[in-house]
Amino acid sequence: MKVLVTGGAGYIGSHTSLCLLEQGHEVVVFDNLLNSSEESLKRVEELTHRPVQFIKGDLLDASALERIFAENAFEAVIHFAGLKAVGDSVEEPLWYYRNNVVGTLNLLDCMAKAGVKKLVFSSSATVYGASELVPLVEQSPVRAVNPYGRTKEQIEDILSDLVAADTDWSVAILRYFNPVGAHESGRIGEDPRGVPNNLLPFVAQVAAGRRDKVRVFGNDYGTPDGTGVRDYIHVMDLAAGHIAALKFIQSHLGAYCWNLGTGRGSSVLEVIAAFSASAGRDIPYEFAPRRKGDAAISYADASAALADLGWTAHRDLAQMCEDHWRWQSANPLGYQPMPDLTDGDDHQ
Ligand code: NAD
Ligand code: WQD
Repeated sequence: MKVLVTGGAGYIGSHTSLCLLEQGHEVVVFDNLLNSSEESLKRVEELTHRPVQFIKGDLLDASALERIFAENAFEAVIHFAGLKAVGDSVEEPLWYYRNNVVGTLNLLDCMAKAGVKKLVFSSSATVYGASELVPLVEQSPVRAVNPYGRTKEQIEDILSDLVAADTDWSVAILRYFNPVGAHESGRIGEDPRGVPNNLLPFVAQVAAGRRDKVRVFGNDYGTPDGTGVRDYIHVMDLAAGHIAALKFIQSHLGAYCWNLGTGRGSSVLEVIAAFSASAGRDIPYEFAPRRKGDAAISYADASAALADLGWTAHRDLAQMCEDHWRWQSANPLGYQPMPDLTDGDDHQ
């Protein structure tokens, strides 16, 4: 299949592109590189020995998108492109709604015009808001508590209205829980810009000595050790979930929604301990007040994905930390090249 991967240079997109290439699919990545680097795709090519066609462009540029659909016969689209920082979305809601919702509308328009009606969409467990009725099932109430989450909720609604209006569409909505880890080679991984918002990349940077200590947001939750519990899922398991969903929509019309998680929760302290064991070093931390908007506990019921797609996550927390650490320690500055510290005089 020839697959358009929007946002394919990013964290989850690059790992999924790698899996698509390994399955023999042709991959065209469309990304504006706002939160990523083309280097990720060069490494995907290096790992798979297969080419990736990269087109630098923005979803808000409808004419660029139209051209791409005119020039390529895509069979399906995997749509990762979007902004994902909760805090930024609270400060700049219009930017988030425009980028995520209007960007998706542009994409859907082009797909409809080109007759490409198979889509896998990156949604998020964030649509469940602060609901603590765990495990979360796909039918749990959707009530996002921040603008980022509401962009996902709105796109999900748009997709279900679209499928109701035109039954030729096949749409898979994937609600990811907490993606972490990296490809086992340590060549591709998550490369956050600035101070990481998420726990794993922050812990990894503390382990690497780039930051002093982890601030554990709240130790008075009603969880076994008082810290927040989440369903961390290895990014390679997540990538495999996309391949399974893509295969499913080849032969099923309509809109489908699946949780992609492990079905197991880990606390912040368990994550720190697991990472410390993988990195073989102490990870200093201190307790800090709860972070606004955080749920105490969130984990998936992922049985629908198993029943419908035959997909389940295989990698445990130790493997997630080990792979994340391999990537972090081999690439302390992410995809940025290491500064050349050699003195020019040495070369005379
Ligand atoms: P990422 O930032 O690494 O990747 C997103 C990519 O989209 C980036 O490469 C960025 O440059 C690109 N992009 C953003 N806006 C664009 C636009 N207008 N036009 C073209 N390209 C654009 O993020 P990720 O972690 O790989 O997430 C991928 C998707 O999964 C996102 O939609 C995100 O909301 C969703 N998601 C992520 C998580 C997570 O914790 N990482 C959890 C649930 C859902
Ligand atoms: C995990 C746990 C924190 C950082 C976010 C988004 C969600 C989705 C996934 C995109 C919580 C605690 C964190 C730190 C800490 N993204 N923590 N110290 O909040 O579950 O989900 O990423 O869709 O939309 O909201 O993930 O990694 O930020 O936090 O104690 O420095 O770690 O309080 O309990 P979260 P996270």
